[in-house]
Amino acid sequence: MARFLAVSNRKGGVGKSTTAVMLAHAAAAWGNQRVLVMDLDTQCNASLMLVGGEAFAKARRAGLTIADYIYDRFDNVADDESGYVLNGVGDVAHAMTRQGRVSLLPGSQKLEDIQGELFLKQSKKDIDADAVAVQVRGRMRRMMKHFGMDFDLVVLDCPPGLSFAALAALDLADLVLVPFRPDFVSQFALDQVAQLVERVETHDDLQDIPLGERRYVCLANTLKGAGEERMLLDQLALDHPLLKTRMPLLDSIARAFDWDERKKSMEQKYQDAIPFMRALHDEVFAVPHMKPELEPAA
Ligand SMILES: Nc1ncnc2c1ncn2[C@@H]1O[C@H](COP(=O)(O)OP(=O)(O)OP(=O)(O)O)[C@@H](O)[C@H]1O
Ligand SMILES: [Mg+2]
Repeated sequence: MARFLAVSNRKGGVGKSTTAVMLAHAAAAWGNQRVLVMDLDTQCNASLMLVGGEAFAKARRAGLTIADYIYDRFDNVADDESGYVLNGVGDVAHAMTRQGRVSLLPGSQKLEDIQGELFLKQSKKDIDADAVAVQVRGRMRRMMKHFGMDFDLVVLDCPPGLSFAALAALDLADLVLVPFRPDFVSQFALDQVAQLVERVETHDDLQDIPLGERRYVCLANTLKGAGEERMLLDQLALDHPLLKTRMPLLDSIARAFDWDERKKSMEQKYQDAIPFMRALHDEVFAVPHMKPELEPAA
């Protein structure tokens, strides 16, 4: 069964999709893992990064997206889900002799409408709105979990808001990775996602959970190396588990966002970001419940 890694922050534009795709490529190339990226965002950035506009439009027309899967299977979870997945995606070349590769469950602009429809469907069975929400969220989590059978790692690229899909991803995740930009609102954003993940109501309740026991870790992204950034990070580290790895603001990372048909090596794609990605990869997959199972003997 795969490990599930959600990349989440309610704040937009902090590097969730960028980090999700970087870690997917890194886990396939360096960790030899079979990785599935599940695109839970109606903006579909991770899908566009991994297959480009043309292949994404084709998948949409063919009904191969997360919204189609969830809608089709809402009443019948047991059916085969592998038909909704695109294999061998991304613009990094992986050796044929190794099992590491990246697959994608494409996102969809329809995901929000579908969640509304599922809510109505479930309302026919339950009257209480809170109970309906719990049911829909739980069923989405179970449907997402199904994909774990064929992969070593499932990366859930979450939307900035709080959809059922985003909440289900937080429930399902073995680890929630929270990228943030070190600005004056990041404390508030981290507090919010932390309380959701740890299912507590207040900052004080959160502080009762030791940092080492939290199910999330935070990643400082887009650093410019300024002194006030370091002060802010020191402050945040008192309240939240922060990764030692910090991602600088780099053109190579910004460029990696654009889809390119030509498959290339990790070094060609990520250039001067490689040492930071290595550190990120090694640190994330050293977290006890994220460690991959031992590689099978050749
Ligand atoms: N370390 C970095 N260096 C340079 N550019 C970056 C870095 N991280 C992210 N970016 C850029 O910042 C922008 C936002 O990144 P991204 O789309 O990954 O954020 P997001 O949190 O997924 O946004 P959304 O909430 O809209 O889904 C993109 O243009 C991306 O290329
Ligand atoms: Mg995104």
